[in-house]
Order: sequence, then C-alpha cells, then structure tokens
Amino acid sequence: MFVIEALPTNAVELENVIQTVANIEAMVQPDDAWNQKTLTELLEQDSISLLFAYDQAKEDSVSHREIVGYCLYQMTFEQAEVLRIGTDPKYQRQGIASQVLNKLHELLQLNQVKSLLLEVRADNAAAIALYEQQSFNIIHRRRNYYKVPHKPAVDALIMQHTYI
Ligand SMILES: CC(C)(COP(=O)(O)OP(=O)(O)OC[C@H]1O[C@@H](n2cnc3c(N)ncnc32)[C@H](O)[C@@H]1OP(=O)(O)O)[C@@H](O)C(=O)NCCC(=O)NCCS
Repeated sequence: MFVIEALPTNAVELENVIQTVANIEAMVQPDDAWNQKTLTELLEQDSISLLFAYDQAKEDSVSHREIVGYCLYQMTFEQAEVLRIGTDPKYQRQGIASQVLNKLHELLQLNQVKSLLLEVRADNAAAIALYEQQSFNIIHRRRNYYKVPHKPAVDALIMQHTYI
C-alpha cells in the first residue's frame, strides 16, 4: 500500500526526502533533472511544496522510507501549478501518480484553489494519459516550445483541472 504525505518538518527527514526525490528525478527526467540543491532552494519559497508517496510495506522507520513518487507544486492564491511529478520506474503503472494527484486535489480544494495548471511535452503520452484520466483539459499549445539541437522541436501543452 502506498501512502501520500507532505514534507516532514524534521531537518534530517526533510533532507532524506529531497535527496530521494532528486534521485528519482534523475531517473525519470534524465535530460532536465532538478537536483537536490535546486529542489531545496525551490522548497524554501512559501508558495512551493511537495507531496511524496512511500511504500508502507517496506517501511522500517520514518527515516528509512521507500519513497516511490512525488509531486512538486506551487500554490498562488486561487491558482496552483504542478511543477514536477514523477514515479520511480520500478513502481510505475501502479496508480501512484494518480494517488498523489488525488491527494493534491483534496489539499488544493481545502485551500480554495480554483484551478490547477501544468505544462507537458506533446510527445509525453504516458503523462498526457494520466492527466486526461484526472480530468485535465488542454487549454493552450505552445508550438515548438521544447528545442534541442539536431532534433525536431516539440510542442508544449498547457493543461488545466478546474475545481467547481
Ligand atoms: C507520468 C508518470 C508520473 C505516471 O506515473 P504512474 O505512477 O506510473 O501513473 P499511474 O500508475 O497513476 O497511471 C495512471 C494512468 O496514467 C496513464 N499512464 C501512466 N503511465 C502510462 C504509460 N506508460 N503509457 C500509457 N498510459 C500511461 C494510464 O491511463 C494510467 O491508468 P491505467 O494504469 O489504469 O491504464 C510516470 O510515467 C513518470 O514518472 N514519467 C516520467 C516523468 C514525467 O513524464 N512526468 C510528467 C512531466 S509533465
């Protein structure tokens, strides 16, 4: 069973969570991973936070949790944005990202947020399928947004989930 939690307040546990999330980032976003330093700096901003998923079956103690997925998000008054979301490749397709997003929806609604935005590469079929299942709609397409030398440019899709 996977459990979703917000960032711990204990400094050692916090560092452990951020390091593990950085390790997963390096696996799932190899071309553009956010490292521990970047994540730590972002999380120093009041508007940015993180939910993480861990495998309860493998929990030894609070400081030895098997962290398997995460979502970094920003909340600015009535609007929120998913900055990063990822699941350890060993654990993908087990409903973890869905569970993390469901928890995020709950939390945002409690904070009177009206809509949740995100940006996704138009060729990221797995993520787009996840977001569609989560009732996100495409509201904008930024043509040729992702540019890498010697490769065709890829559009960015802006997707939105609205809370009513
Ligand atoms: C996208 C990602 C976060 C999904 O995480 P996950 O924990 O495997 O997702 P879930 O198990 O909750 O999947 C929910 C639904 O999303 C869709 N989905 C997820 N992975 C998929 C894949 N590889 N292919 C097609 N559909 C997929 C399916 O509809 C799935 O439901 P189903 O399993 O009942 O068919 C994960 O693949 C990942 O970390 N990708 C790399 C990082 C990334 O692309 N992040 C998003 C950047 S915008």
